[in-house]
Amino acid sequence: MNKIVSPNSLAAARSLTEQIIKWIDEDGERDFNIAISGGSSPVILFHVWHELFLKEIDWQRLQFFWVDERCVDPRDSESNYGMTKKILFDHVPIPPNRIHRVFGEIDAGFERERYTKLVLSHVPTSHGIPVFDLVLLGIGDDGHTASIFPNKLSLLNSTQIYAVAVKPGSKQERITLTGAVITHAKHVAFFVTGESKAEILFDIFEGNKIAEGYPAYQIAKSCNDALFYLDSNAGRLLTYP
Ligand code: 6PG
Repeated sequence: MNKIVSPNSLAAARSLTEQIIKWIDEDGERDFNIAISGGSSPVILFHVWHELFLKEIDWQRLQFFWVDERCVDPRDSESNYGMTKKILFDHVPIPPNRIHRVFGEIDAGFERERYTKLVLSHVPTSHGIPVFDLVLLGIGDDGHTASIFPNKLSLLNSTQIYAVAVKPGSKQERITLTGAVITHAKHVAFFVTGESKAEILFDIFEGNKIAEGYPAYQIAKSCNDALFYLDSNAGRLLTYP
């Protein structure tokens, strides 16, 4: 696990974007398959992509998939696709057929199966597991990532590629990538900002006992080299070499 801490969220977004561009360029001309998370953290990242790096990103090579999606209509304010379309896709030259949204508006079980087949038909696999070029993750203040919540750690080792999950509290259904697929990705980057994530990140980087129950920690420690792009607020409790 490596951390890159920037003075603020804009600088953290720029730093991560510069690294993503390097990964895209390393891959020659082939498709770059990226699975993105939702929530509020990526909002600044998506703004930076089109406002500051529009010309630097080779949009025609990207294929967008979701790490997870809320089972709602795409026009719902909760929709990760809806948020990303408004902030990013409506502003960049990416062909619509390279944006693969989860159909949050249909039966979750049916969509889990459909979306799994879709990903398998687009993303190269290794031992039957899709290998995304990049999986972009956030961390919830309960230590969840994707829609793998602390009360369902079994999704970390599920044999399913996508699973139906339920957000504790709201009971909102989600379609989520499972742990083994995430950790098989070529690159895994966490983008985490804000004071509310400082304690969680401290427990994760200290390897504190409590972190064993955090899906984000379990995922990060199972990856070859998970990178954490943080702002100084999120990283304020971490020690530096
Ligand atoms: C989602 C996300 C989820 C998110 C964390 C952090 O659909 O909500 O994929 O895993 O990354 O909940 O959310 P914030 O960025 O809003 O803190």
